[in-house]
Amino acid sequence: MKPIATLSLSLLITAFATPAAVIAAEPAKPLALRGIMQDLGRHMQTITLAIAHEDWAGVEKTAPLIAAHPQSPLSEKTRILSFIGTNLGKFKAHDHKTHEAAHHLMHAAQHQDGPAVISAFQSLQSGCLGCHQEFRKPFIQHFYGAK
Ligand code: HEC
Repeated sequence: MKPIATLSLSLLITAFATPAAVIAAEPAKPLALRGIMQDLGRHMQTITLAIAHEDWAGVEKTAPLIAAHPQSPLSEKTRILSFIGTNLGKFKAHDHKTHEAAHHLMHAAQHQDGPAVISAFQSLQSGCLGCHQEFRKPFIQHFYGAK
């Protein structure tokens, strides 16, 4: 009898242990912010290609999608704000720089001014990079528990 009892006990443990193990192994649900960022990445690609085609109307049409990108839902915003804490000023400054550059990009495209488009595009990229260099790693560590 003993081996069977041991077996069923271990089955029982397995049955209860499995769901917990599955939950523990599941990666954290991605932030809505990540989807918003992926869209920004796609818009940047669209603009790069439009510049190559000197398709200024295409640049003009896409830049506002970056300048007025959607924001995280309120509950996520609260989580992000409480994590950022006293670094909020820095975070906002990166965001602001990016929005400004996207506006300049749109105006340069309206004037079909290629060099101005490229220079605005460069400031836009610096805006993205600035925030990523300062915040991406801490975000990933905090919200996804990754190293
Ligand atoms: C104010 C801060 C900030 C600015 C400005 C910013 N990002 Fe991000 N970005 C982040 C953070 C934080 C993450 C990490 C989010 C995550 O992994 O959940 C990220 C991640 C990304 C990712 C990776 C998404 C993935 O699938 O892992 C892409 C692509 C991206 N950003 C594109 C851009 C582009 C393009 C711009 C500029 C037009 C930009 N970002 C501007 C903060 C910013």
